[in-house]
Amino acid sequence: MTQNTQTLDGKISLVTGAGAGIGRAIALHYAKNGATVVVSDINEESGQETVNLITEFGGTASFKKSDVSKADDATALVQFAVDKYGRLDIACNNAGIAPPATPLAEVDDALWRKINSVNLDGVFYGIRAQINAMLRNNGEGGTIVNIVSILGQVGFTGLGPYVATKHAVVGLTKQVAVDYAAQKIRAIAVGPAFIKTGMEDNLDPDSRAALDDMHPIGRMGEVDEVGAVVAAVSAPGWSFVNGAYLPVDGGFLSR
Ligand SMILES: NC(=O)c1ccc[n+]([C@@H]2O[C@H](COP(=O)([O-])OP(=O)(O)OC[C@H]3O[C@@H](n4cnc5c(N)ncnc54)[C@H](O)[C@@H]3O)[C@@H](O)[C@H]2O)c1
Repeated sequence: MTQNTQTLDGKISLVTGAGAGIGRAIALHYAKNGATVVVSDINEESGQETVNLITEFGGTASFKKSDVSKADDATALVQFAVDKYGRLDIACNNAGIAPPATPLAEVDDALWRKINSVNLDGVFYGIRAQINAMLRNNGEGGTIVNIVSILGQVGFTGLGPYVATKHAVVGLTKQVAVDYAAQKIRAIAVGPAFIKTGMEDNLDPDSRAALDDMHPIGRMGEVDEVGAVVAAVSAPGWSFVNGAYLPVDGGFLSR
């Protein structure tokens, strides 16, 4: 019989920003597919809640607090996974923040730096530490999934710093492929459109309907629709996919 190349059984994974929203869904899907998960977040309480959700259904997970914008935290997070579980096979760089809508010419230095420090510096620090661990996997390499956005492919009114950082992470993803494919390390950028994380509940009905209408499918996405895709692309069966941008967008970019 051929091997099941879609399972994550035996894999050691980490997810940043896994205390809420899309990151929590990714951590849950990793665990449900058999991976051990190092749940990481800047918020200890919500991260620990994700661990509890995983252990409740019999999965294996532990929490490590980490601020992705700090290089030392990125190194310590990877070291935690290696010390506790022996290796790192899969890393999902999910943590990200969005700025308040601001015309580009009015973006001040502090806002520009803040968005860059989490969304771009954070992914670079993560990737660097993760690759260094994956190079020690006896030639088996590893998989890196970067959560970008439809705004890693197109602009969006008022979101300049966010758009710039997400495009940059698409570039970093390609660079991992070019530099490390020979060592069996691969990277994929997953690009969600607008996903329901609870914030949309604060919108007035007209704004909410306008958001739904941007998607040809006629609605925003669910966090589980991203989590399921990220778990799938992290599996060994996707070994020849490297440097790709994969939209998870209900057709948003296809118009
Ligand atoms: N929600 C959407 O519509 C949407 C669409 C496209 C892309 N994304 C991307 O998906 C990712 C997750 O978004 P979300 O909507 O689930 O966000 P969210 O705000 O619901 O959750 C983000 C999590 O990241 C954590 N976090 C924030 N700053 C951090 C830091 N410096 N270090 C570590 N953790 C930190 C937060 O504590 C939180 O638990 C982001 O990269 C975002 O850009 C979201």
